[in-house]
Amino acid sequence: MQKGRCRACDHVQMTSIPARRQTRVLDATQAGIVEAVAILRAGGLVAFPTETVYGLGAHGLDPQAVRAIFEAKQRPSDDPLILHLGHVDLVDEVALVSPLARQLAERFWPGPLTMVLPKRPAVPAEVSAGLDTVAVRVPAHPLARALLIEAGLPVAAPSANLFGRPSPTLAEHVLHDLRDRIDAILDGGRATLGVESTIVDLSSCAPRLLRPGGIPGEEIEAFLGLRLLPALENTGGPQPSPGLLSMHYSPRTPLVLIVGEPPAAQRRLRTEIEAALAAGQHVGVLLLEDDVDCLPQGVVIERLGAWSDPTTSAARLFEAIRALDAASLDVLVARDLADVSIGLGRALADRLRRAARRIVDTRP
Ligand code: TXA
Ligand code: MG
Repeated sequence: MQKGRCRACDHVQMTSIPARRQTRVLDATQAGIVEAVAILRAGGLVAFPTETVYGLGAHGLDPQAVRAIFEAKQRPSDDPLILHLGHVDLVDEVALVSPLARQLAERFWPGPLTMVLPKRPAVPAEVSAGLDTVAVRVPAHPLARALLIEAGLPVAAPSANLFGRPSPTLAEHVLHDLRDRIDAILDGGRATLGVESTIVDLSSCAPRLLRPGGIPGEEIEAFLGLRLLPALENTGGPQPSPGLLSMHYSPRTPLVLIVGEPPAAQRRLRTEIEAALAAGQHVGVLLLEDDVDCLPQGVVIERLGAWSDPTTSAARLFEAIRALDAASLDVLVARDLADVSIGLGRALADRLRRAARRIVDTRP
């Protein structure tokens, strides 16, 4: 916390303006990793690539370092963080691991699976936002792994964007949001998967899918031989998983999302775009390859994959949203990018619904 002056009335007030830091861009080399580890050990903030999106890391057992993450991101302190580990064996130091959780860890780690488990006392309340559980994952990205192994400590890391904005898949995205709010970024190029990890809550008797993500829920269900319970609805009370907040990943330009399948959704996409153009608006479209031929003239497009190729759409989604948001447009329009009931299509549907200002449902 720092003292600041209210712009409206000039009263001194407590604000959480983050400490100004000079952000260094570190190469993906051993020297860069050593430097990043020194910053983390000293309580600093380092962004790093994972296979899903870039994370903003701090020493996960140092409460002050963890608080700095919340300040830099402007993230509410009741939204808990994921602890990232360099090796599966380290999980026992921060969480109580049930036999089911151990099976999942052996099968899906390293990889884009986050497990919510009962926490050990070593984990500061700042990480778990006061909950008695902690989220953990062992990422698969080689640079993330090298960093975590060299650091030899749990690294608390949310996605490295300003709170509520689209997650970053490139170092440029992190710098756009967090330059001079964090100490360093390890530049490892593109985060290939493009959507965040799948989160499964294993802290009570029946496992629950809290967030669809990089690993399809069905794959986890098939491996365990059981159905995952669905996420609880966000009721506005204390958050079961604050990632379930309804507005998230939002561009500043309003996004209209058409949900449903072709051809109804395709037709509605076209009419929605035509209506915006007729009203004199500048329109951006998150464009599926399937829709190239039915697009009116005069719109700005970002091309994603085809309906049948959600891997490509996921890899490009946040980058495309950020690009359109930077193009000074009045409205963005998109339709569901894949079958919303399976695989990465579920994660894409979830992210688009949270990013959307208005949802148009074309389903009968
Ligand atoms: O792929 C990812 O998961 C990326 C990379 C950097 O690892 N991280 C990420 O972190 O997406 P973040 O903070 O943006 O999203 C983590 C989500 C949040 O919605 C948070 O509420 C939820 O995990 N979470 C963390 N700890 C939790 C807990 N103990 N119980 C329930 N939800 C939890
Ligand atoms: Mg996030």
